[in-house]
Amino acid sequence: MAAGDVARERWLAGRLAVVTGASRGIGAATAAAIAAAGAHVVLAAQDRRALDSVAARIRDAGGQATPVVTDVSDEAAVQRLFTEVAGLGQASALVCAAGVLTPAPFAETTSQMWRRTLDVNLTGTFLCCRAAFTAMAAAGGGRIVTIASLSGVYATEKFPGLAAYNVSKYGVVGLTEAIAVEGREFGISAVCLSPGAVDTEMLRRANPALRPGLTPDDMGALIVALLDSPLAHVSGANIPLFSNA
Ligand SMILES: NC(=O)c1ccc[n+]([C@@H]2O[C@H](COP(=O)([O-])OP(=O)(O)OC[C@H]3O[C@@H](n4cnc5c(N)ncnc54)[C@H](OP(=O)(O)O)[C@@H]3O)[C@@H](O)[C@H]2O)c1
Repeated sequence: MAAGDVARERWLAGRLAVVTGASRGIGAATAAAIAAAGAHVVLAAQDRRALDSVAARIRDAGGQATPVVTDVSDEAAVQRLFTEVAGLGQASALVCAAGVLTPAPFAETTSQMWRRTLDVNLTGTFLCCRAAFTAMAAAGGGRIVTIASLSGVYATEKFPGLAAYNVSKYGVVGLTEAIAVEGREFGISAVCLSPGAVDTEMLRRANPALRPGLTPDDMGALIVALLDSPLAHVSGANIPLFSNA
């Protein structure tokens, strides 16, 4: 069998995928990896110039990419995103990588910081998953990957200054389980990844002393491997990534 035949067998090949948080970091690397696997990828984030440059890199490498400026915490913006997606075709995959982290000691965590963190990390994931779920259910199925964090995994070591962030990530883990339960009858699978330290701007700003065990490209490769696999049997799982390999 020729290498090209193997590539054509990939689940992602020829499909349409949406990646949030695609302007940099894990989302940008994941979008590039998904495009390299043969899918047309819709890139969502707020920074238009950064999105355009990620899309240009993907196209230069022979992939298909459409940037759509989106604040995932804004319900109307998420609706516009998925209207644009519907104009391109049927979204088969969604990766929710958009996230914010604003470190603050618990007693100095303002309600504004709390709300913004929950709005982007949890409500933003909910809004994107709900829009994708609706379209996927109508089309007979789809695959969703959410990204929480070891900060949202029970009984792992927690760092100070991350109360709002940790709570938002616990929420993403629970949301993914809920989507998996209700997605089963529609052929929709959802899996959550909970990485430790990944070498991105978020980590460098939040905890410059922490040594990353993963690169954004590692995350992109793992997410592509997951999306290319039959996820149904692990749907609802939260996979902690302790690895420093
Ligand atoms: N890096 C780590 O060590 C680590 C560990 C565990 C989990 N995670 C999680 O992995 C995900 C990706 O993080 P990262 O490390 O790649 O961080 P990053 O480099 O800071 O990237 C965050 C991405 O989220 C986007 N974003 C932020 N607010 C948004 C909004 N309101 N609407 C749409 N997009 C928004 C940003 O783009 P714009 O600014 O252009 O909107 C950017 O593309 C996050 O959910 C993070 O919590 C990261």
